[in-house]
Amino acid sequence: MRIGVMCSGGDAPGMNACIRAVVRAAGSGGHEVLGIRRGFQGLIEEDFFLDVYAPPSAEGETPLMTLRSVSGISKVGGAILMSSRSQEFRTEEGQKKGAANLVKHRVGGLIVIGGDGSFHGAVALSRHWGGRIVGCPGTIDNDLIGSDFTIGFSTAVQTATEAVDKLRDTAQSHERMFLIEVMGRHSGYIGVYTALAAGAETVCVPETETNIPQIVAHLKDLKARGKHSVMMVVSEGDEMGDAATIQKKLEEAGAPFQVRTVVLGHLQRGGSPTAEDRILASQCGDFAVKSILSGVSGVMAGVIGGKCVLTPFEETYAEHRAIPPALLQLLKTLSA
Ligand code: F6P
Repeated sequence: MRIGVMCSGGDAPGMNACIRAVVRAAGSGGHEVLGIRRGFQGLIEEDFFLDVYAPPSAEGETPLMTLRSVSGISKVGGAILMSSRSQEFRTEEGQKKGAANLVKHRVGGLIVIGGDGSFHGAVALSRHWGGRIVGCPGTIDNDLIGSDFTIGFSTAVQTATEAVDKLRDTAQSHERMFLIEVMGRHSGYIGVYTALAAGAETVCVPETETNIPQIVAHLKDLKARGKHSVMMVVSEGDEMGDAATIQKKLEEAGAPFQVRTVVLGHLQRGGSPTAEDRILASQCGDFAVKSILSGVSGVMAGVIGGKCVLTPFEETYAEHRAIPPALLQLLKTLSA
């Protein structure tokens, strides 16, 4: 079978390890892999990966990836296939063009590495194309149902934690409070994990109410007990607004520290993936290939409790993925 593979949506560290797993798992079974660059946009434009090690393909021939195309890429951040959020693919016309290109290039199965937006795209594509589609959870946000962790989350948390550790040094020297805004879109997972790992005193996430008077009272209490510095992790999706807005509200409410805000932004999406992300990506990529070959479609390949599992695309994004209350409680206990 010829299997297409693409990355879609925001890039995430570990996507390359996933591409590698797809190419190697398919190749070892005698199957072909077409690398589609720039996600659904590249599919519409027939933008395919050209392997420098492969003999040049004849005019009109579909260029395929080889086992060598993916050598040494697991440790590399970003995505060798690149990624995109395609506006054109949101239209029915774009979806039909994509489907026609899969037929033209004799693709029987497609693996989409991405998050909820990409899986919405996969569902739309399946209305116009009869091939099999399996997803791999590639997003730093960890907001999908059907996998304990998503590819890129571990690295993003590691990067954010290192940043908070560094900011703590300055906070201590200057007796300041830092608000560190992390990504996660509507999810507070990166925020909670970073706050726990870095020993932050407080966290604002969309899953819990941000109560300014309560936070200020907590800050005054910390100061009275001799705390010199405070780190507050703010998830970008917090219902009160971004970190700058929260800083303003804290100052107006009498926060007893000088406050500075740092937005980590896209830093969290780059860099060499952690071992955890590489392993998860390898498991998901391999399992996605096996699943396609076994005949399934319309599902995401994830890992829950160490076991590979399949979850229908629609279920992966049907609900907001809750943060375990025990983690939120732990954060409260440790920062008291
Ligand atoms: O979904 C990954 C993510 O990094 C979110 O955490 C963030 O809200 C969004 O993508 C940023 O998107 P863009 O790179 O398009 O600005």
